[in-house]
Amino acid sequence: MENLIVTPIIYKDGAVSILDQTKLPNEIVYIDLETVEDVYNGIKQLKVRGAPAIGIAGAYGLFIVARNSKVNTIEQLLTEIKLQGDYLISSRPTAVNLEWGIKRIINKLSKISFQSLNEIVNFTLKEAQLIQKEDEETCFKIGELGATLLSNADNVLTHCNAGSIATAKYGTALSPIYYLKDKGKNIHVYADETRPLLQGARLTVWELMKAGVEVTLITDNMAGFVMAKKNIDAVIVGADRITANGDVANKIGTYSIAILAKEHKIPFYVAAPLSTFDLSIDNGNLINIEERDKNEVIFIGGKQIAPKEVDVYNPAFDVTPSKYITAIITEKGIITPPFSQNIKKHFD
Ligand code: MRU
Repeated sequence: MENLIVTPIIYKDGAVSILDQTKLPNEIVYIDLETVEDVYNGIKQLKVRGAPAIGIAGAYGLFIVARNSKVNTIEQLLTEIKLQGDYLISSRPTAVNLEWGIKRIINKLSKISFQSLNEIVNFTLKEAQLIQKEDEETCFKIGELGATLLSNADNVLTHCNAGSIATAKYGTALSPIYYLKDKGKNIHVYADETRPLLQGARLTVWELMKAGVEVTLITDNMAGFVMAKKNIDAVIVGADRITANGDVANKIGTYSIAILAKEHKIPFYVAAPLSTFDLSIDNGNLINIEERDKNEVIFIGGKQIAPKEVDVYNPAFDVTPSKYITAIITEKGIITPPFSQNIKKHFD
């Protein structure tokens, strides 16, 4: 099982490479990130995607900035890292993990007195590797804890891709499924295709099939009927930002699925690391929701499916109010309502 799980970001012999997720499932290509612009574009164009994975990519981005820098003093290098960190954060606004990963390194850098430029390069690399390693451990733990909620489930439904390629390894929403598979229990997954960019069809289906998990692809508008007819035991999704009251920003379409789950009395689980929580924001109305290019809706796989001139609204995420959420699975425990109180306890 272990070796069937794909890792999306690899550091080896000085080079950072990412699995180009825009090419999946047709081509499995890893590309090198050589400059900060490569990292920015890789994140913006969704070559690397998923909240924890872009946090890791952003962290390696700071290493790339430090390594490529031409400045002469420690002060200049720290200023450059800070500026380029802000540039990387601006690539995608909704998933808090990007900002979290970058700010974690910048805060640590500001507290250490370095003796040479090289020390800073080595420090940024070590920190990026640490964030990646911790995320792998975190996702494994989410799998272990999430498995306690899914141990009697036969069919679950998921939306978008919160799998191994959206994290360091294992995923968040898919981690309990991999964990249980490893223990000999097979859960059948219904995967929403996830328009407009088809993360469900292209990525979730691909990685589950690769790992030998039974999966059925449905289009997004089939979810209600599937819940009514197919004995769905649970819905499980990931998250991009969770506010202090437990509202969850996740891939566009998640909100509709949560309402459908409530109507069908199906538990709706969110699986996310503590790094996805943003306690500086009270509720989901205050989350900055990324809006993306209209052509992502007008074209599918390069084929035009609507008049080019049409007006398009293309929010990449939506917000699911916490009242629709049964539980949030984190690496430090399963959080249940009342969310405002219980989330706070995990950060005390
Ligand atoms: O636009 P994407 O593909 O980056 O959106 C990804 C999601 O919405 C995931 O569900 C979320 O980031 C959690 S990934 C573990």
